Amino acid sequence: MDVRAEIEKRTGEIERVIASYLPPEEGYQKTVMEAMNYSVSAGGKRLRPMLMQETYRLFGGSGRVIEPFMAAIEMIHTYSLVHDDLPAMDNDEYRRGKKTTHAVYGEAMGILAGDALLNYAYETAFRAFALEPENPGIVPALRILARKAGIYGMVGGQTIDVESEDTHDMTREKLDVIYRLKTGALLESSMLIGAVLAGASPDEQKIVEESAGALGLSFQIEDDILDVTGTTEVLGKPVGSDEKNHKATYVTFAGLNKAREDADRISKWAIAHMESLPVRNEFLIELMIHLIGREK
Ligand code: IPE
Ligand code: IPE
Ligand code: MG
Ligand code: MG
Ligand code: MG
Repeated sequence: MDVRAEIEKRTGEIERVIASYLPPEEGYQKTVMEAMNYSVSAGGKRLRPMLMQETYRLFGGSGRVIEPFMAAIEMIHTYSLVHDDLPAMDNDEYRRGKKTTHAVYGEAMGILAGDALLNYAYETAFRAFALEPENPGIVPALRILARKAGIYGMVGGQTIDVESEDTHDMTREKLDVIYRLKTGALLESSMLIGAVLAGASPDEQKIVEESAGALGLSFQIEDDILDVTGTTEVLGKPVGSDEKNHKATYVTFAGLNKAREDADRISKWAIAHMESLPVRNEFLIELMIHLIGREK
């Protein structure tokens, strides 16, 4: 399988799904809609909707009920980035190869566009009921979408993250908690929603959630590595952001080599865990392998 070509093809399909769920830019409040669409349309790897759709397919899902959830998770992820880049947080000027939302529309509109994307994500996900009114997975999927984005998920992780700036007594345990929440939770949400909507059993859901959590941890370690070793051209966002903000990252904590080793090991564990399922999606496994040592 030419995994790069497959990723490109699927990214194009996902782009079309996301675009179809973005709000029209109209009314006196149209600036916030423009700012929302600017941040979502800027690009990005679309990893979360891709993982969601492939996990849905893994368990035999073939309907369109997954599509509003794919758009919703990308809206929530994008909102997390818009707010993460704000002056009060990481204070970054570039994202997805473009000026950040607050840099273009101003700080107030950056805050509002983030709020609006979070809210619109739920409005979008609710549209699943119109597509498959009888699917018993929709309510549990909504519950997962909400919980993993909040204080027990991404927002919780971002909270510990900002409070840990300038910390010199970081521990491996605390770093793990931050990464599993700020990054892992949205990957868990993505893959778990795919599994739930396709009717996976509770045991299967548990394996998916554990794998996604580990994948998220290694994905964030890799993100820390790229903040040191990457380039703005390839990443589409500034390098050296963590150092600028005096972040205790996996790299400052363990060093580059150990960080690479651990990211590799944790990813391989996640892949093996997915392979322990009685079902298989070759592309999903290839995608997870592709993320090891990624360049962006
Ligand atoms: C960036 O996520 C934030 C992290 C959790 C590391 P991605 O690397 O998936 O960003 P996009 O969506 O491709 O822009
Ligand atoms: C943020 O981690 C993860 C989020 C929940 C947004 P980072 O602050 O390292 O993400 P980047 O490097 O800005 O994408
Ligand atoms: Mg951050
Ligand atoms: Mg950041
Ligand atoms: Mg980073």
